[in-house]
Amino acid sequence: MKILIVGSGGREHALAWKIAQSPRCEKIWCAPGNAGIGQIAECVDIKAMEFERLADFAREHSVDLTVVGMDDPLVGGIVDVFEARGLRVFGPRANAAILEGSKAFSKDLMKKYGIPTAAYETFSDPAAALAWLGEKASFPVVLKADGLALGKGVLICEDMEQAKAGVRAIMEERRFGDAGSRMVIEEFMTGREVSVLSFTDGKTILPMTSAQDHKRAGDGDTGLNTGGMGTFSPSPFYTEEIAKYCQEKIFQPTVDAMAAEGRPFKGIIFFGLMLTAQGPKVLEYNARFGDPEAQVVLPRMENDLVDVMEACIDGTLDGVDLRFADNAAVCVIIASGGYPVSYKKGYPIEGLEAAGAMEGCYVFHSGTAKKDGAFVTNGGRVLGVTATGTDLKQARKKAYEAAEKISFEQGFFRHDIGKAIDEAPEGSL
Ligand code: AMP
Ligand code: GLY
Repeated sequence: MKILIVGSGGREHALAWKIAQSPRCEKIWCAPGNAGIGQIAECVDIKAMEFERLADFAREHSVDLTVVGMDDPLVGGIVDVFEARGLRVFGPRANAAILEGSKAFSKDLMKKYGIPTAAYETFSDPAAALAWLGEKASFPVVLKADGLALGKGVLICEDMEQAKAGVRAIMEERRFGDAGSRMVIEEFMTGREVSVLSFTDGKTILPMTSAQDHKRAGDGDTGLNTGGMGTFSPSPFYTEEIAKYCQEKIFQPTVDAMAAEGRPFKGIIFFGLMLTAQGPKVLEYNARFGDPEAQVVLPRMENDLVDVMEACIDGTLDGVDLRFADNAAVCVIIASGGYPVSYKKGYPIEGLEAAGAMEGCYVFHSGTAKKDGAFVTNGGRVLGVTATGTDLKQARKKAYEAAEKISFEQGFFRHDIGKAIDEAPEGSL
């Protein structure tokens, strides 16, 4: 098969790496890709939002399957464009990707179908939001821009002062652009966070192994929110009992709700969950693999990814036996100094080969380019260093050993990715 991947980050590198292992895969292109992805796929200079050009490319090159990694094109309707042109594509249509594209939509869906989530109100008028906060809010309270905001449109406000400033920033100053034309105000939940990615064909849903992200830039969960600074898988806090509850009360009900709404969801549903004292609740949905969740989940997956994606498209997922290795993985993101605010690009990267040569280690590129034949930094998140091991402790040790071998000017990483596993209950793995 000839396969086209749409996207340019570490997630797409992990997708390309996994797809390349399929005996059915003959050729991979990635649009626009990055220099690291270029080691296994041919990068194509077309942007992810140029749907017609991508479809032209797929047609001209007889692409058998297009895999969309990113949220923007999915929410924007890339799958609809491909399907209208008779091209085979993996991912939800726009009317289903709205599960990620609008927080107001997803909250209303959960309320209508009784799927556990934080209590909330939706507003399209800042004055109404402020009035509600004045009368009803208890603090802390969570403000969310309705639309896509690179994972940054969520503000946790400790008091009325912060909440007022937050409403102004989201709805009046439009700090997150049009994403802030509506907003959701929701109850603050406490507990441990876990990400569960799943495959669905619109009827059957098969959850993958669990993972946990670290969203803040600094050690000890300090600093600004980022796209994600590192992940580990599985989460020792996501027990079999919790998984069973989630399957019955959250995962299957979400797929059934989307079908009942005339929005059958085919592709990946990423459940961002909070394990609260009242049980697991949905924090958010995403309509794609997580980045860097993909970098720890895919290296543990035993199935041929192309087979599973095709089963999602064809509605035959009930015949798939999804399997993950009985091991663990940790991914440490190496970022450019100044990320997530401002940073320089173009610094030469040392040590990539030494890190990649370690047994069970994979260096997935998030933002790199080639200059005079050598890899240089080209983004905020630059590399994701993944290691697998027999358990989380071993994987963590190896991931940090590998990350230490890599260096570039002003590069940094968090030192506590997966540290939470030290607090995991005895025998929980
Ligand atoms: P989201 O993009 O909705 O996942 O939100 C980003 C992050 O904000 C989450 O990973 C949580 O850490 C935090 N967050 C979002 N909603 C809530 C909530 N209702 N209570 C507590 N923390 C939240
Ligand atoms: N790592 C979080 C996300 O991909 O949304």
